[in-house]
Amino acid sequence: MTAIDITGATALVTGASRGFGRGIATSLSQAGARVVGVARDHDQLQRLRAELGDSFIPVTADAAGPVTAGQLIDAYRPAILVLNAGATPLTRPLHHHTWQTFSQNWDVDVQHVFRWVREALLSPLDPGSTVITISSGAALRGSPLSGGYAGAKATIRFITAYAADESARAGLGIRFRCVLPQLTPATALGSAGVAAYAARQGVSPASYLEAAGPALTVGQAGAAITGLITDPGYDRDAYVLTAAGLTAAP
Ligand SMILES: NC(=O)c1ccc[n+]([C@@H]2O[C@H](COP(=O)([O-])OP(=O)(O)OC[C@H]3O[C@@H](n4cnc5c(N)ncnc54)[C@H](OP(=O)(O)O)[C@@H]3O)[C@@H](O)[C@H]2O)c1
Repeated sequence: MTAIDITGATALVTGASRGFGRGIATSLSQAGARVVGVARDHDQLQRLRAELGDSFIPVTADAAGPVTAGQLIDAYRPAILVLNAGATPLTRPLHHHTWQTFSQNWDVDVQHVFRWVREALLSPLDPGSTVITISSGAALRGSPLSGGYAGAKATIRFITAYAADESARAGLGIRFRCVLPQLTPATALGSAGVAAYAARQGVSPASYLEAAGPALTVGQAGAAITGLITDPGYDRDAYVLTAAGLTAAP
């Protein structure tokens, strides 16, 4: 199958200021896309712009806000949308959570995916567009020290599948794919998780990671998402992402 050429295409990445989002924005930019990067940290976005140049457009905004998705989809008409933004869960056992801390990833991660996916379908994005949502391996196994995180990430996978069905029913030609990355210490969010789960097992983060096998890097995550967008052979709704690459999610 012929690779999809994204040279000159507009890609919008939420949570582009650091972590996976930064890696995804960098990889898409290197593949020739014009990248609109959305996050709240203005300075980090400006640093990425200095690195990637004029083809990177920083937008300081709350990706989960009520008008952000509508405004930015109208303004930029992206052919590629990567919904990656996510809050770092408070790592505590269930009964040490309040409802507010338990539901944080619903308020940020799920709300932002819901709003952007809804706008992508209503707008609608052009036929041939791709929407990628970032879930988590926790959606398959649970994450007992992260409050409502695993359930929120499972819901993101459901929303993506529902949207794929609506796109097909309406003949919109928009591809929807969900990615479930493994836990990795390569980002701020992931390293907090590794520290918490290692402490619970009574081992050091280094021992925990050694037992878990090779850790996913930000560069690998960026390259995998670009591959998912450009390779039409990836025709499943959801993929697990590890250091070994993408595999169909169970
Ligand atoms: N790292 C892992 O081990 C792992 C594993 C599975 C899944 N994931 C998922 O991968 C995604 C990226 O996580 P990461 O590990 O790269 O975490 P990270 O390094 O903490 O980055 C999170 C990104 O999300 C942005 N963000 C958070 N709330 C936002 C909001 N309301 N509006 C706009 N941007 C917002 C942050 O930017 P600002 O703070 O500047 O807004 C930042 O750019 C998340 O959805 C996470 O759940 C991570």
